[in-house]
Amino acid sequence: MANIIELENIEKSFGELKVLKGISLSAKRGEVISLIGSSGSGKSTLLRCINMLEVPNSGSVKIDGEEILLKGNGERREPADLKQLHRIRSKLGMVFQTFNLWAHMSILENIMEAPIHVLKRDKKEVREQALELLQKVGIADKAHAYPNQLSGGQQQRAAIARALCINPKVMLFDEPTSALDPELEGEVLRVIKLLADEGRTMLLVTHDMKFAKELSDKIIFLHGGKIEEEGEVKEIFENTKSERLRQFLAASGH
Ligand SMILES: Nc1ncnc2c1ncn2[C@@H]1O[C@H](COP(=O)(O)OP(=O)(O)OP(=O)(O)O)[C@@H](O)[C@H]1O
Ligand SMILES: [Mg+2]
Repeated sequence: MANIIELENIEKSFGELKVLKGISLSAKRGEVISLIGSSGSGKSTLLRCINMLEVPNSGSVKIDGEEILLKGNGERREPADLKQLHRIRSKLGMVFQTFNLWAHMSILENIMEAPIHVLKRDKKEVREQALELLQKVGIADKAHAYPNQLSGGQQQRAAIARALCINPKVMLFDEPTSALDPELEGEVLRVIKLLADEGRTMLLVTHDMKFAKELSDKIIFLHGGKIEEEGEVKEIFENTKSERLRQFLAASGH
C-alpha cells in the first residue's frame, strides 16, 4: 500500500534547543497513528513539520508520494516553491487544540472559506458539502451561528468540518480535545472515531491513552527528540519494551 505520509530523518531545533533529532515515520493509506509522549517531547513540532508550519532543519517530508521542496540549510531552510507547498497543504486537514475559527464569519462561512478562496471551487457545490459535513459532525443547526455562540465542543467539531471540506488525503489532529471540558470531549472523540472507522488516514497527537488504544493502528512514543518505541496498540500496551514508555504509561494510568 502506498504511503500518504513519509518523513525521513526530520531534525528541528529552536536556537540551542534540539527538539527533533532524526524522526522517520510513514503512514499508509487508511492508517490511524497516534503520537504520544510527555509534554515538550516535540509532538506538536513534528506535526507542524508535516505541513511546514515549522520547517525542519534537515530531513524530508513526502505527502502522497511528492516531496515538499525546500531550499537553504539549517535555520535558514525554507519552502522552495510556495505554489507546490499550497497544493500539498490542501491535502492535509489540520485540527488544532484551539479551534482557530474566524470570529467574524459564520460557521458555514468558516468552512467554505478555503475551498472557495484558496481552492477556487464552485460555491454551490462547496455549500452543499459544507452543510453535509455539519450534519456529519452533528451541528447542522449551527450553520449560521458565529463561533462565540458555540460551545467548545461544537467549535471543535466545526473546525473538523472545515478541515474535511478541503477533501484532505490525511487529517492531522493536535490534541483536539485538550482545551475542552471533560463533558464536551466525548462528542469530539465520537466524530474522530467516526472518521477513523471510515478509513481516513490520520495522525493524532493525544494525551488520551484510552482513546489512542481504541482508535489507532499504530502508536509512536516520542522521547528525547527521537522515536523511543513504536508499534501496534497491543505491542505498546501489553508488551512494552522501553522502560521510559512503561513509566509514561504508568503515569497516565496504564
Ligand atoms: N516556536 C518555538 N520557538 C521556540 N521553542 C519552541 C517553539 N515551538 C516549540 N518549542 C519548544 O520545543 C519543545 C517541544 O515543543 P512541542 O510543542 O512540540 O511539545 P509537545 O510534545 O507538543 O508538548 P505538549 O504535550 O505540552 O503539547 C518545547 O521545549 C517547546 O518549548
Ligand atoms: Mg503539543
